[in-house]
Amino acid sequence: MIAKEIQIAAYLFAGILFILSLGGLSSQEGAKRGVFYGIIGMIIAVLATLLGQDVHGHVYIITAVAIASVIGVLLARKVEMTSMPQLVAILHSFVGLAAVLVGFGSYLDPKTHLLASTEHTIHLVEVFIGVFIGAVTFTGSIIAWGKLEGKVRSKPLLYPGRHLVNGILLLASIVLGVMFTMAPGIEGMMYLYIMTAFACFIGVMLVMAIGGADMPVVVSMLNSYSGWAASAAGFMLGNNLLIITGALVGSSGAILSIIMCEAMNRSFISVILGGFGEVASSGPATAMVGEVTAMNHEEVSDLLKEAKSVVIVPGYGMAVAKAQYPIYDMVQTLRKAGKKVRFAIHPVAGRLPGHMNVLLAEANVPYDIVLEMDEINEDLPATDVVMVIGANDVVNPGAQDDPSSPIYGMPVIEAWKAEKVIVMKRSMSVGYAGVENPLFYKSNTDMLYGDAKDSVEKILGFLKA
Ligand code: TAP
Repeated sequence: MIAKEIQIAAYLFAGILFILSLGGLSSQEGAKRGVFYGIIGMIIAVLATLLGQDVHGHVYIITAVAIASVIGVLLARKVEMTSMPQLVAILHSFVGLAAVLVGFGSYLDPKTHLLASTEHTIHLVEVFIGVFIGAVTFTGSIIAWGKLEGKVRSKPLLYPGRHLVNGILLLASIVLGVMFTMAPGIEGMMYLYIMTAFACFIGVMLVMAIGGADMPVVVSMLNSYSGWAASAAGFMLGNNLLIITGALVGSSGAILSIIMCEAMNRSFISVILGGFGEVASSGPATAMVGEVTAMNHEEVSDLLKEAKSVVIVPGYGMAVAKAQYPIYDMVQTLRKAGKKVRFAIHPVAGRLPGHMNVLLAEANVPYDIVLEMDEINEDLPATDVVMVIGANDVVNPGAQDDPSSPIYGMPVIEAWKAEKVIVMKRSMSVGYAGVENPLFYKSNTDMLYGDAKDSVEKILGFLKA
């Protein structure tokens, strides 16, 4: 057992480490350090809580932590990088469920009913809000997991008057909340049950209404909700660290969502209200104009030998093919031959924020040749060759000039402005957003069909020959 003062100091220290962790994670150079701070902070937080004076049943807690840790390690080792968003979504659902259970537990705790009247009312409000946010996060995250995993259809489920239904349920929840705070003893349980059912329904409907292409924002929004749910649980339990940590997760998730909304030209408000999918597309899809032409590996390698400047646009397909290693070999070969080679990274390329950056860092690609979309777009008209490797939506010109496209308005990497574009993918099939890509039909574009890793290795072979 540790004294209360030591616990408070430990919580404060852990809180500072979490802030340093977030600071570190905001740049590639500081990311490892950030993760390290986070791990140390979490160990301190767990130990300081476990050793707290009013904690009992250590055997049960340690057994549960041990079992959960084993499951966590096994899952994290097994999961592919490409399935990370699903894992994150399902983990958010656990946070939501935990907040719901803490809320019910805290309401049933006889000690809380001994609080003075104002304090008791405040506690009941905390319970109600915590359970509401937790339940929305819980079911919303399960649906997000289902959509990302392909178990739930990714098309938005829109029905007329759904905003009205959600609004009425929200209003009804507020009324139930007032009745809950006025109910004596634990008679408010029924109101809590009904509100939980409403909140679960709202969570399902909010995420069902959002199309697959907008899932990245949803996952980060649910990340934010899970933070607020944890923070609410912190209020219920009177645990300052949980309040701080929840607020950090809640606000950083919200900031990330805003950044992503800007990157995809979406309205943040309509995202959190669940359903900008409905306005994303207007009218029938535009027919593709032009002819698709293809090159072989040797021709692409000849083109690269002639080029002075090359920009590589990686996408989800690079992650699937695990092509980052041969790509970096190819980049080194080209750089040794005196060519200017850089990477162009779209903020939502791949399936999770920073996906491409992580993979390129894994292959030891130096940070100074990895540029963000905004930094590279203006250089593309003066670029000889753009190699689009396993990317599709993030280089779709329809996002700029086709109002009928579901991704119209999303900023994209303007690959087509380069002198020559090589698109490396296995077929003509669509990307995540499910839309045709006019880039493939442009006169300065050639396709190079095949698995990205295999193709890059073959090009590398010709370059080295
Ligand atoms: P996508 O538009 O999904 O396109 C990826 C392309 O990779 C596919 O068209 C596929 O074509 C190709 N591919 C798959 N496996 C391949 C392989 N082994 N070798 C070569 N090519 C392969 O990817 P993107 O351009 O990176 O865009 C990301 C999309 O995902 C956006 O719509 C974004 O909104 C969404 N999204 C992003 C996130 C985050 S946060 N980044 C999260 C969820 C969703 P083939 O089948 O013809 O090979």
